[in-house]
Amino acid sequence: MAKLKKSKTRQANQFVQQNSASPMNTTGGRTEPENLETIDTAVQASQKSVVSREKEIGERAEQPTGPVGLDIGTSHVVMAQNAGRHVTTVNQLNAFFTIPYSKFTKKILVENEITFFEKNNQFYILGYSAENFANMFNTNTRRTMRRGLLSNKEDEGINVLQSLIKTLIAPVTNNEVICFSLPGSPVDSANSVIYHESIIKMFLAGLGYRPLSINEGLATVMSELSNDNFTGLGISMGGGMCNICLAYLSVPVINFSIEKGGDYIDNMVGSSVGEPATKIKAIKEGSLNLSRAPQDRVETALDIYYVDLVSNLLNALEAELKTTSKMPNINTSIPISLSGGTVLPKGFKELFEKGLKKVNLPIEISEVRIAEDPLNTTAKGALVMALSEEI
Ligand SMILES: Nc1ncnc2c1ncn2[C@@H]1O[C@H](COP(=O)(O)OP(=O)(O)OP(=O)(O)O)[C@@H](O)[C@H]1O
Ligand SMILES: [Mg+2]
Repeated sequence: MAKLKKSKTRQANQFVQQNSASPMNTTGGRTEPENLETIDTAVQASQKSVVSREKEIGERAEQPTGPVGLDIGTSHVVMAQNAGRHVTTVNQLNAFFTIPYSKFTKKILVENEITFFEKNNQFYILGYSAENFANMFNTNTRRTMRRGLLSNKEDEGINVLQSLIKTLIAPVTNNEVICFSLPGSPVDSANSVIYHESIIKMFLAGLGYRPLSINEGLATVMSELSNDNFTGLGISMGGGMCNICLAYLSVPVINFSIEKGGDYIDNMVGSSVGEPATKIKAIKEGSLNLSRAPQDRVETALDIYYVDLVSNLLNALEAELKTTSKMPNINTSIPISLSGGTVLPKGFKELFEKGLKKVNLPIEISEVRIAEDPLNTTAKGALVMALSEEI
């Protein structure tokens, strides 16, 4: 027990020293002894297990009593708080559905505690409620984000995303720290994260928080690699994109993203076999097992595009590591932690390991691990960062 305590403090020291150089640290280097306590709390949080739940329809937003981690993902928005022996998370579907305005419908929506707002003679139904409506109308929900960033295809995307976030967190008056996830710059497109980051920051500051951002790949490192001194590769494979970060003692050395993820698999498989992407998504989430031979043509196509996605990611990683001038001189082998919904099917780790053998990375990998709770890893990692920034 004593040994564990000592090693945690050692990690905390390294964390605070290295983190002061981190671009994520908006307050600059704070290495005074009194701050070690908050760093210790952050390290301890990264070692806690997650208790997660879906936002219930009609449920009020949480009133945070401490720092908050917020994962703003293409598919889900997840908020995390430090609560005793656990980290607790609540998730909301990042989706909406519009229906025409009528007084009668409004009454029914209110009575059923559906979350919505009114604009331009329409009701915007938010989150999990939107999914129920879309299923009833046998169509798809709409998304506020596309490939990890605010969608430029939806005029009301920003308003809807802000309303969705407000279903999870209530305004505060104490300048509470909130750390939200931000994708790395995509290597396969000219999209920039600056606009997205600024809009989210302004909105969260307007709710009374002190916002800071964390790269999504680094969030995986902060959540999963505390026993490795926060050194290794954190890879988050979500719906809209994959985020990759190589960190050394919690400092992001290289981070980037590719604009492909679970949605890419659903769309490519759908168009290959002539089925809607939503149907493919349901099959993928319900029964895909990548460790056995495909049973039909949908599974064959899912297998092909899973291999394709992993090979895209690993080729981009190889190219980044080989061309960077920032490569640290790491003389031991490092782990890879994989998070995000796309890593969930059985057999994914083995598929990834197979792909890894086909590339020639300039660093040695000790092992590949699936994160403890892949759908909540980013929010937990963001919380760890938020806790370390508390004054
Ligand atoms: N059990 C499952 N098996 C396979 N895929 C799954 C499973 N559950 C969720 N997914 C997929 O995971 C993706 C969503 O993952 P996640 O919630 O991590 O993404 P996100 O953080 O919202 O998106 P991003 O990080 O790309 O912006 C979707 O493509 C979804 O279909
Ligand atoms: Mg994500």
